[in-house]
Amino acid sequence: GLAGTAGLTLGLAGAAARADEGDALRAMATALFAPLPDDGGQVRGRPVDARQVELGRMLFFDPRLSRSHVISCNTCHNVGTGGADNVPTSIGHGWQKGPRNSPTVLNAVLNAAQFWDGRAADLAEQAKGPVQASVEMNNTPERVVETLASMPEYVRRFGEAFPGDPDPVSFDNMALAIEAFEATLVTPGARFDRYLAGETDALDATERRGLQLFIDSGCGACHNGPNLGGQAYFPFGVIERPGADILPEGDKGRFAVTQTASDAYVFRAAPLRNVELTAPYFHSGQVWDLEQAVAIMGNAQLGRELDAEQARAIAAFLRTLTGRQPRIEHPLLPPSTARTPRPE
Ligand code: HEM
Ligand code: HEM
Repeated sequence: GLAGTAGLTLGLAGAAARADEGDALRAMATALFAPLPDDGGQVRGRPVDARQVELGRMLFFDPRLSRSHVISCNTCHNVGTGGADNVPTSIGHGWQKGPRNSPTVLNAVLNAAQFWDGRAADLAEQAKGPVQASVEMNNTPERVVETLASMPEYVRRFGEAFPGDPDPVSFDNMALAIEAFEATLVTPGARFDRYLAGETDALDATERRGLQLFIDSGCGACHNGPNLGGQAYFPFGVIERPGADILPEGDKGRFAVTQTASDAYVFRAAPLRNVELTAPYFHSGQVWDLEQAVAIMGNAQLGRELDAEQARAIAAFLRTLTGRQPRIEHPLLPPSTARTPRPE
């Protein structure tokens, strides 16, 4: 009778309220974030060139870009493991341990600038760094060009990928080809992207609660845009600086780039796409557990003590950012010749 009608009315009102809440959450999420493009890759507003992508894939996997002939880009940015190396700080030439954790190359093309401190403007500028860094590939531009020019197949492919260039086998073109390949490493189709597109059930109740907490707590103030980060710089420890185990004193972040006192311990807000695949976390790579990384952010950046359940919900939301991983075929690489510099 009456009770039943009242119950039904209340039930409907509840459902309508829930639908409103759901729409409000999606509206907030749509304002802060954006789905990943599914356009095959763009560099500086232009679609990538297929011949450059193909050449770039070879270079990305070719360990002869390193002085030892052992280390390729893929060593530290393994495209089968989320585009990173999953160790605290990278191991490079002669088993040297570098100072920072390797960020993923997946979706890196969407970042406003490259590296934890944003010191490279784009992927082409970035690619010249590791080849020369003594703790990474320890090579020189001259030796790289000599190596590539010693293999007829590379000479042909550089010529085809950079037609009209009088000197196609160059260090600059190596970087441009690698950049073109990296621009294809975008991971659309995450459950979160389906949610943004209107598929409410793509996230379960805990994950939606995590999204709500992520927004309400203020995480989205720094981690926003299509890559949920990668766009701007902030002190690590806006409210409370983490201990030296997580924020080593020797690495002052953007201070090294700008020499400005206020940039001490300032880093790029890390992009959070595929974060479930790229542990350990932070530039120091000292935190293995995503829930713990979330809780540290709450304290350090927002002065907010997130309880275990809240940290779990936010981490559950972050795991919905895992997108379709690129299926990259390992390229066949041209054989070395008598003119190829030997490994050292
Ligand atoms: C950073 C690509 C080789 C370790 C990066 C970034 C990209 C990249 C795109 C910036 C990502 C971002 O900021 O979001 C490449 C390419 C390589 C290469 C194309 C080959 C030419 C290596 C190697 C290692 C390595 C061999 C390990 C020995 C790192 C580390 C960073 C980094 C530790 C962060 C450095 C910092 O922020 O100061 N790499 N990488 N990379 N890569 Fe590589
Ligand atoms: C790094 C999540 C709030 C700025 C990270 C990382 C995670 C994360 C998981 C590590 C990513 C990785 O290593 O790949 C969160 C969550 C937040 C939050 C869940 C809310 C509770 C903020 C806020 C800011 C910020 C409000 C800016 C004021 C940064 C920066 C880094 C970072 C600069 C890089 C730190 C480093 O140098 O290692 N965030 N974040 N985050 N976040 Fe947040």
